[in-house]
Amino acid sequence: MNIPMVDLKGQYETLKPEIDSAILQALAETRYILGPNVLAFDQEAAQYLGVNHAISCASGTDALHLALLAAGIQAGDEIITSAFTFIATAEAIRYIGAIPVFVDIEAHSFNIDPAKIRAAITPRTRAILPVHLFGQPADMEEIMALADEFGLLLIEDCAQSFGSRYRGKMTGSLGCVGAFSFFPSKNLGCYGDGGMITTDDDEIAAQIKMLRNHGSSRQYHHDVIGYNSRLDELQAVVLRIKLKHIDDYNRQRLRVAEQYNRLLADSRFTTPAIAADRDHVFHQYTLLCDERDAVREAVLAREIACAVYYPVPLHRQKAFADTAQPDLPVTEACAKRCLSFPIFPEMNAQQVETVCEAMLDAG
Ligand SMILES: Cc1ncc(COP(=O)(O)O)c(C=O)c1O
Repeated sequence: MNIPMVDLKGQYETLKPEIDSAILQALAETRYILGPNVLAFDQEAAQYLGVNHAISCASGTDALHLALLAAGIQAGDEIITSAFTFIATAEAIRYIGAIPVFVDIEAHSFNIDPAKIRAAITPRTRAILPVHLFGQPADMEEIMALADEFGLLLIEDCAQSFGSRYRGKMTGSLGCVGAFSFFPSKNLGCYGDGGMITTDDDEIAAQIKMLRNHGSSRQYHHDVIGYNSRLDELQAVVLRIKLKHIDDYNRQRLRVAEQYNRLLADSRFTTPAIAADRDHVFHQYTLLCDERDAVREAVLAREIACAVYYPVPLHRQKAFADTAQPDLPVTEACAKRCLSFPIFPEMNAQQVETVCEAMLDAG
């Protein structure tokens, strides 16, 4: 592929001396489980995000699972969320026997539509779980007002939104708990699986620390049945180094997205909107277009990557065949028309022009 979706190799090359030597040092120290880098990363991430606690764990999926458990979600509880997301959002709900209730999205942001949440609330609703999809925060003021009005918990899926802000506040600091993913291609990604939960609540934090470590806060004493879900020490090494660059990475992503938006302004593509009160970190650059599959083929034929996030919304997945299948017309339309293009901090202006040329030639 001449232009990939992300350039992990290019980023590693620029960080190589620092990362290699820090990894060698961690190897020599031999404190591989909950070692000094994991503990330091938890503190540094909490400080960056402006939360009292950040607790790393083994993946973003685990982060959602542990966040829901620690927030007290139980079997049979209904959780309102989006169907236009990666399956992990609703998988984690199902791990506990809770029920995902899918609500439609806004076409301009791809995020849950707050105007449609009220009608989905029932006496069994316990929480709203917005996903800050593609790096742009959901409409949190409206969502928080509904959560307050109905006494619901607010759980944020921040897997794609590290460092994005809603009215100056970081995603992951707006609800009761936030769940992050450090999957390698994420805007803050490690070199394997990794995740993290954020909260301001001391009790929830203590619970999550136990849950990620076999239900234990004192070695060989187990208060609850927990999990083996610790961030790997070597991944923490990588994340501590990348965290120092995250503002720059997110700025570069925005630069790329703005260039795309400029070059495609008068085209038939509906380019992504950036709400004035939000900082979009452009984990993905996703737009809407007709004849999506033809455009995709034409771009791929020029050795330029592009991808469909997400072709099948969750309420149409076989795995959720036993879950209510509401009518979600905006979600369905976006699934048919969405197309994502390469975006990464190291992408240069020439590469963006090349992608746009291929897109414009395709249609
Ligand atoms: C929106 C969303 N939620 C949850 C996850 C799960 O994260 P992970 O792959 O680290 O388990 C991902 C990413 O894969 C995601 O994009």
